[in-house]
Amino acid sequence: MAAERLLEVKDLKVHFNTPDGIVRAVDGVSFTLDRGETLGIVGESGSGKSVTCLTTLRLINLDTADVSGQVLFKGRDLLKVSKEELRHVRGKELSMIFQDPFACLHPYYRVGDQIMEAIHAHDGCGKNEAKKRVIELLGSVGIPRPDQRFADYPHQFSGGMRQRAMIAMALVHNPDVLIADEPTTALDVTVQAQILDLIERLKQDFNVGVILITHDLGVIADVAQKVMVMYAGRAIELASRDDMFAQPLHPYTWGLLESIPHVDQKGTRLIPIQGSPPSLIRVPPGCPFHPRCPHRFEPCDKDVPELVDRGGHPEACHLSIEDKRRLWSEREQLRKKVAS
Ligand SMILES: Nc1ncnc2c1ncn2[C@@H]1O[C@H](COP(=O)(O)OP(=O)(O)OP(=O)(O)O)[C@@H](O)[C@H]1O
Ligand SMILES: [Mg+2]
Repeated sequence: MAAERLLEVKDLKVHFNTPDGIVRAVDGVSFTLDRGETLGIVGESGSGKSVTCLTTLRLINLDTADVSGQVLFKGRDLLKVSKEELRHVRGKELSMIFQDPFACLHPYYRVGDQIMEAIHAHDGCGKNEAKKRVIELLGSVGIPRPDQRFADYPHQFSGGMRQRAMIAMALVHNPDVLIADEPTTALDVTVQAQILDLIERLKQDFNVGVILITHDLGVIADVAQKVMVMYAGRAIELASRDDMFAQPLHPYTWGLLESIPHVDQKGTRLIPIQGSPPSLIRVPPGCPFHPRCPHRFEPCDKDVPELVDRGGHPEACHLSIEDKRRLWSEREQLRKKVAS
């Protein structure tokens, strides 16, 4: 049976008008998300990952940004629906969790009360019923003795527990889509792994689609079925996790893979990507990655490479597929040789 398509984002563009010029934060991004699937979005800081997701929820100020394209959620374009319909969808059908749980939990109110508030905001069900549901949820996100912890204040929770409480809050209405923006960046490594396990388990228990934003390709390797690599506001490569790791096609993806310890095989050397990402006010002409790309050649500084589908594995680069295969394999050989 075909999976249910929850989200279809088509040619999304988000340009901010600022005193310094137009920031092309998202510049033509398309992707899909099915129920039961985790899409990992990866890229360096400033590549447009958060703006892509915030716009999906229409959480950016449309007065200061030019937004075009479509965000089809179960067929409805969220960029066009009325504010009332949007309020209904947001939080209830599409939920988001952020990097810093403190930004969303108010320090003066008890954790349980804040989650109850989230239930009331939409449902207005009875107090006892809401409390029961919150305790149940706190339990399902792995908070021990949830009936007692219900009355704690945020500062009485550890960082990992606060993130669990945020996840509980995001799940109060049984959403269809859960968007997690760097949910583990502020946590230490063991807690990170627990939170990722939790998100993976909840994906099955709650039967949702998950979008997971991260800098860390190691995280993606563990939990995502599909990966989108972003650079300078564009999707430059999109593939299943298995294809992305077996045969990455874009030189930027190669750079990411080679500079991240998690996915590097033991004994091989980490190689950072030279230079830094461009300002999104002055994106370089041609391929935005060309000033940093060791494989650039004649067309790269002039022609913008289109996203070309290479057997269900779209990517945007001027190199031929034969050259890519050869270059990636040479890079792998070299890394192993240097390490030994
Ligand atoms: N409201 C805004 N007004 C102007 N520019 C913005 C606004 N929001 C984001 N930007 C810019 O858009 C670009 C993309 O930002 P975004 O937050 O999506 O990056 P990111 O990939 O999530 O980075 P990080 O990994 O650091 O979170 C950045 O250059 C940022 O400065
Ligand atoms: Mg971000």
